[in-house]
Amino acid sequence: MRTTNLLGWAAPLLQTATALDAEALTSQYFGNDAPWYVDRIPLFEASISEIQEVYYYRWGLFRAHQRDLGADGFLSTEFINDVGWQTSPWAILINAANYHLREGRWSRDRRFKEDYANVLFGPNTNPHQFSEVMADGVWQGYLVDGVLEDAASRLEAMQTVYNSWNATLDIGGYDTSKGLYYIQPLTDATEYTIASIDASGGIDGFTGGNAFRPSINSYQYANALAISKLAALTGDQTLADEYKERAETIKALVQEHLWNSTFEHFIDRFYVDNEYVTYWDPIRGRELVGYVPWTHDLPDDEEAFAQAWKHIIDGEKLAGSHGLRTNEPSYEYYMRQYRYEGDHPECQWNGPAWPYQTTQALTALANLLDHYPTSSATGIITKADYVAILLQYAQLHYNPSYDGILNIEEDYNADTGVPIVGLARSPHYFHSGFIDQVITGFVGIRPSADDVLEVYPLIDETVDYFRIERVLYHGHDVAVQWDATGDRYGTKGLTVEVDGKVAAQSENLTRLTVDISRVDPPEIDRPIALSIQLGADTEYPVGSVSVAGVDDSLIHNVIDGRVWFYPEIVNWWDTPVGNGSEIWYQINFGSSVEVTRAEIAFAAGSELGVDVPSQYRVQVNTGGSWVDVDLGDGEYEHAVANGITNVQWESVETSLLRLVFTPKEGVAVRLVEFKVF
Ligand SMILES: *[C@@H]1O[C@H](CO)[C@@H](O)[C@H](O)[C@H]1NC(C)=O
Ligand SMILES: *[C@@H]1O[C@H](CO)[C@@H](O)[C@H](O)[C@H]1NC(C)=O
Ligand SMILES: *[C@@H]1O[C@H](CO)[C@@H](O)[C@H](O)[C@H]1NC(C)=O
Ligand SMILES: *[C@@H]1O[C@H](CO)[C@@H](O)[C@H](O)[C@H]1NC(C)=O
Repeated sequence: MRTTNLLGWAAPLLQTATALDAEALTSQYFGNDAPWYVDRIPLFEASISEIQEVYYYRWGLFRAHQRDLGADGFLSTEFINDVGWQTSPWAILINAANYHLREGRWSRDRRFKEDYANVLFGPNTNPHQFSEVMADGVWQGYLVDGVLEDAASRLEAMQTVYNSWNATLDIGGYDTSKGLYYIQPLTDATEYTIASIDASGGIDGFTGGNAFRPSINSYQYANALAISKLAALTGDQTLADEYKERAETIKALVQEHLWNSTFEHFIDRFYVDNEYVTYWDPIRGRELVGYVPWTHDLPDDEEAFAQAWKHIIDGEKLAGSHGLRTNEPSYEYYMRQYRYEGDHPECQWNGPAWPYQTTQALTALANLLDHYPTSSATGIITKADYVAILLQYAQLHYNPSYDGILNIEEDYNADTGVPIVGLARSPHYFHSGFIDQVITGFVGIRPSADDVLEVYPLIDETVDYFRIERVLYHGHDVAVQWDATGDRYGTKGLTVEVDGKVAAQSENLTRLTVDISRVDPPEIDRPIALSIQLGADTEYPVGSVSVAGVDDSLIHNVIDGRVWFYPEIVNWWDTPVGNGSEIWYQINFGSSVEVTRAEIAFAAGSELGVDVPSQYRVQVNTGGSWVDVDLGDGEYEHAVANGITNVQWESVETSLLRLVFTPKEGVAVRLVEFKVF
């Protein structure tokens, strides 16, 4: 069956006996905002309820972090609101871009990851803001959608970014004498690591501590391979060979120099040379970052390297009872708090559990269990451990500082699961992945550049069931199902469906491989909102309101391209409490534009004292007077709370437009976003 979804593109949708109920699941998890999700996300259920629940929470997080830039499309934000160290006004922070792209590759709507990649490799990005794995992120997206021309269109920009790390900057660069990259831990997005604390003599560690780290070298390895593989696919073998050689050189040097056989772990060596530490000396402890080489498939499959995986399941080493520690309790400055904002502890990486690195460790472990046969055969770590760590990570999302609601923040005490930082900026922090770990690990869809669909779930028989469907892979509609007994879906074992038909089946959790030809996924639909104002209110479009005496910065929230309905972080303008009179929100476009529809986001909640208006209409100013838009045969949609209210009218040219509405008696209206197209 083919249906046309809200975006206008046609996507094949599964119709099988066991198909999940899309309307029911999306309305259960997203309420009135379900229409945003229903055709954009794969549906999933599992016998482990936390993994299922957090899967949908993470799609909500993904949606909340899609910032609409207007003509520049969408990008993924890290903090849900602005922070001082982002690249403004877009709110670009590149350190988590690889996760954002890997989460986004599973959306059936390719727009989000493609627009974001355009931003990341466009003129506004700042490649030295943080260490980055952006080229690999694009490559990972290609492995799912199979659209070469979009991925390859960034080949030149990828090389420019890649080579920019050849500099020798204060914050990081390339050391020709060692052939390895070094980075300041802060620039690696991981301040207060062993390297930076020890390089300060134990008195600080926010800045400094430049080191040859497993992270930056694995990132450059992955970026080089991404460039090499994309170049090969476009027929540029010279470029492909050049970057393959770069990758291989990094790999050899990381294995030779960053592997510490005493610790049986990949660890940093100092680049900094000062009174406390010496250039090229290894640091004195194990860190979770030591698994990042496997995140990017760098190490060879050797028994010696496999020994590192003992530490991630050892309660005295990296395994906290509520999360993975970023370094071990044996380190002299483990969990010592150095930095505060007021009374609040600030971000540090000397022990706390960080979803950022938990994500890397899970991807690393999935790679090991999937395609490192010698390492897997040691039995040091198993699929049961993968499920246990994924479940522990899912449980970390239930936030004890917020009465146990789903609300992922920055870092956690690995022994208690309590958030450490918890500042005003912290709620619903998108600095990690989860969807990608569920789909590539737990479900085990291993995206490939070849014309195959490979499935190898990293679960054991103690998992009763799961089913995922509407995964758009190489243009096909894929479902994967596991049923340990046959009681759930009527078929015992593992089943892979392609375009609604069973394509492979096994009674047990063996690897299933299906040949699959590549077809074009639906075209990306890119409506451009004309109302978006990212920055200062001195530029058009400008928002204004009919009610005097309100905070100007809140007025701007309504046209800042951000939509979420979490009550924890302000993203709205609240009207005064209703008394029967009308209020308006006006957009001045600065010049005449053609407008034809709007998406209005109202938030509501009885405990919040806000509700949708009793009525609303849209007016334009033509020839100096305000008139209601002409709805033609249409009508105003019933206003919905915590979702999108759509209005469409006969297109008209105007430079001024208003949303005119009446708050209900005694309650305010919370206007989150007013997008005009
Ligand atoms: C830049 O870095 C790569 C390692 O990725 C190295 O092969 C190359 O020689 C470096 N170029 C210069 C000019 O240092
Ligand atoms: C591993 O690192 C430790 C701590 O810096 C060091 O003492 C030891 O010599 C290193 N092991 C090897 C084999 O280099
Ligand atoms: C799993 O099932 C396949 C057939 O579906 C069979 O060939 C294989 O031997 C089974 N493996 C185990 C460990 O039972
Ligand atoms: C009713 O509300 C409007 C808009 O908030 C306000 O301007 C007006 O003063 C209010 N009228 C009374 C009688 O309170």
